[in-house]
Amino acid sequence: MKVEVCTWKACKSRFSSYIVDRIKNDKIKFNLKNVEVNTCPCTGNCKIGPSIIVDGEVKTHIDPVKASNIVQGKPEKKKKKPYKKK
Ligand code: FES
Repeated sequence: MKVEVCTWKACKSRFSSYIVDRIKNDKIKFNLKNVEVNTCPCTGNCKIGPSIIVDGEVKTHIDPVKASNIVQGKPEKKKKKPYKKK
């Protein structure tokens, strides 16, 4: 699995460096030898960052916990539907 984390200005201001650190720590902690993590330039999703690219697929609104779950292969949680009053 190849993971690239955007560390340009907008994503960096949203602490994307913590995402890189978290993935690196998870690699060691869970012995994830197939995970390769790098930084990358802006992916064009600055307003909905931080963004990462996982095997060519851009993912946005990423935080360190979400990144950790992706790297470990855990399924992403679906967003809850807003409550509708009947
Ligand atoms: S700075 Fe990260 S997507 Fe633009």
